[in-house]
Amino acid sequence: MITIKNKDSIEKMSRAGSLLLEVFDAIKPIIKPGISTEAIDTFIEDELKKRDLVSKCKGYHGYRHVSCISVNDVVVHGVPSPNTLLKNGDLVKVDICVSWNGYCADMARPYVVGVVSDATKKFIAVAQQALDRGIEKARAGNHLTDISAAIQKEVESNGYGVVRDFAGHGIGKQMHEDPEILNYGKPGKGPILRPGMTFAIEPMITFGKYDVFITDDGWTVKTSDKSLAMHVEDTVLITDSDPVILTRRTIE
Ligand code: MF3
Ligand code: CO
Repeated sequence: MITIKNKDSIEKMSRAGSLLLEVFDAIKPIIKPGISTEAIDTFIEDELKKRDLVSKCKGYHGYRHVSCISVNDVVVHGVPSPNTLLKNGDLVKVDICVSWNGYCADMARPYVVGVVSDATKKFIAVAQQALDRGIEKARAGNHLTDISAAIQKEVESNGYGVVRDFAGHGIGKQMHEDPEILNYGKPGKGPILRPGMTFAIEPMITFGKYDVFITDDGWTVKTSDKSLAMHVEDTVLITDSDPVILTRRTIE
């Protein structure tokens, strides 16, 4: 069942989103060569506390951290570690889901360490564009898979792969609610979108083949061909007009 959020729930999710956005801004200056992903996670935990944000990751199926930090060929669910030290040229995807007063926001953003190639810059930009193309389809009256198809088209027309094994999701009081939002598929299928639905849309894309595997820590998702991966995520509200992105600023 896809829940329709009332005004009060939407206000809380919106607050969760804007506070989470502040946390992502705060991370930026600490992404430097030599820092461990565990140190970044510890920093994030402190930033969440300052804002009364509750991590939805910590404790989820025994997960012990407040964020997922996925470097280079790690697609998603990278486990923060004292042994993973950032170096110049790394592509680092940070994913954080929180609740504020019981309502969730889920967001992921890429950071680059030092200098990256033009090819990497384009790859990052296409993932962000794919998210935007998907969000544009998050409109009342559209079908769910209009979002999926728009994402796939943007990614594949640029020659990259769309990961099949993980998907976006509805979000609200729970981090994961119905529906599952695939990043590929034919348009015009699935439920009709209605105002008050809230979705976490999150393309996961690969520079090479789209096949991925889970490493023996049970969490880390890597590309099978070791190619670079990107992940970016926003929490979006469907309205009777334009979609509202709860994890971005309206005025930049
Ligand atoms: N934020 C992730 C998502 O988009 C979930 C991470 S769950 C964790 O669904 F436990 F791995 F943190
Ligand atoms: Co998510």
